[in-house]
Amino acid sequence: MIRSENLRSGYIQDDVEEYLYKLLPERDAVIGEMEKYAEEHRVPIIGPAVARLMTLLVQVSGAKRIFEMGSAIGYSTIWLARAAGPQAEVFYSDGNPENARRAEEYFHKAGVSKRIRVHVGDALELVNKTPGKFDFIFNDVDKQQYPDAMRAALPKLKRGGLFVTDNTLWSGKAARPAAADDKDTLGVQEFNRLVYASKELFPVLIPLRDGVTVCRKS
Ligand SMILES: C[S@@+](CC[C@H](N)C(=O)[O-])C[C@H]1O[C@@H](n2cnc3c(N)ncnc32)[C@H](O)[C@@H]1O
Repeated sequence: MIRSENLRSGYIQDDVEEYLYKLLPERDAVIGEMEKYAEEHRVPIIGPAVARLMTLLVQVSGAKRIFEMGSAIGYSTIWLARAAGPQAEVFYSDGNPENARRAEEYFHKAGVSKRIRVHVGDALELVNKTPGKFDFIFNDVDKQQYPDAMRAALPKLKRGGLFVTDNTLWSGKAARPAAADDKDTLGVQEFNRLVYASKELFPVLIPLRDGVTVCRKS
């Protein structure tokens, strides 16, 4: 299997998803090692298909100052840092210090440590208290926190900046009625409603892997 189990979308037909992943070029040794680790330890990374979309968005927008909310082992952080180049400043944030320790090892191996600032703690608080505004904010925290993550991120995003959020179809569950105790699905649904209702955002929900919402702030 080309597309590993931890990257299964849950709503795209298997053969179509396999085809999409087969098209992707091989990754380098560090990214390959991280994908293997994520698969073996069930770490929920964005994976290479969404990582390429992030790369494209960073390169087309020219983003240099980037904040990531929910970085885990730093897989998406490395893609962002590479896309933004040596002049970039990319803020890693995660609540788990063990994740941050592992991520720092990978940043070193990938040769991007100098452009990454590692912060451990609540990403919603960290984005708020980090001085200055950002060109690009990537949101990948716990799904029940998505509405609050949006409220925390938007004041910190420059006008014309991109606010990108992963898992906005949530294995397809976002499209169906959610049980009252399914806080993650309810969080994603409320987030989707909020971004499309916002007067300052122009959102597009892309049904790639688990759903990625790209919003430009006006
Ligand atoms: C889906 S994983 C991130 C994966 C990463 N973006 C990637 O694609 O490589 C979510 C991570 O967010 C962290 N997290 C969740 N809520 C958080 C919060 N409020 N503040 C900081 N970290 C949080 C979890 O510890 C977990 O490591």
